[in-house]
Amino acid sequence: MGFNANRRGFIKGAGTALGVAAAAGGVVALYGMKRTWDPLPSVVAAGITEVDVSRMDKGDLRRVEYRGNPVFILKKDEDMAPNPARDVMINGEPYTVAIAICTHLGCIPAWSPSARLFQCACHGGEFDASGEVTFGPPPRALDIPPFRIEGTLLVLGEESEEYHRLVAQA
Ligand code: FES
Repeated sequence: MGFNANRRGFIKGAGTALGVAAAAGGVVALYGMKRTWDPLPSVVAAGITEVDVSRMDKGDLRRVEYRGNPVFILKKDEDMAPNPARDVMINGEPYTVAIAICTHLGCIPAWSPSARLFQCACHGGEFDASGEVTFGPPPRALDIPPFRIEGTLLVLGEESEEYHRLVAQA
């Protein structure tokens, strides 16, 4: 009886220790992820991400972080079809601004400059340069994050009339 009680106590203690170690490991892993995502110069306080797009050339893709989510910013070129329902106009030029998370099951698609597609390796989903689904299981286009335009500055995290107009058409 005493032996069993001691044994149970030992097992319970070991389980607790393992749980603490696992939790500590998780915190270390999360800290590592955060450190990887943190040093973006464009990230400012209050969940706002500001990105100056003035140096982007046609066809350039940037990936930034907004409230812990990756966001694609693609400056469209002449070979990418205009899409008034999705194009974010900055300084008279069309951009695709979309949360870089596949709307099927949440993988991160990759941009293929040659195919001009965002391709999701998980189940083969594809999105065109505007973020619209062209193939596979994704149920809808890539989501558009709240944004506001200020000159050549794209401010992610603030809503604008333009943002509401695009989302209403989605
Ligand atoms: S998660 Fe992208 S196609 Fe399934």
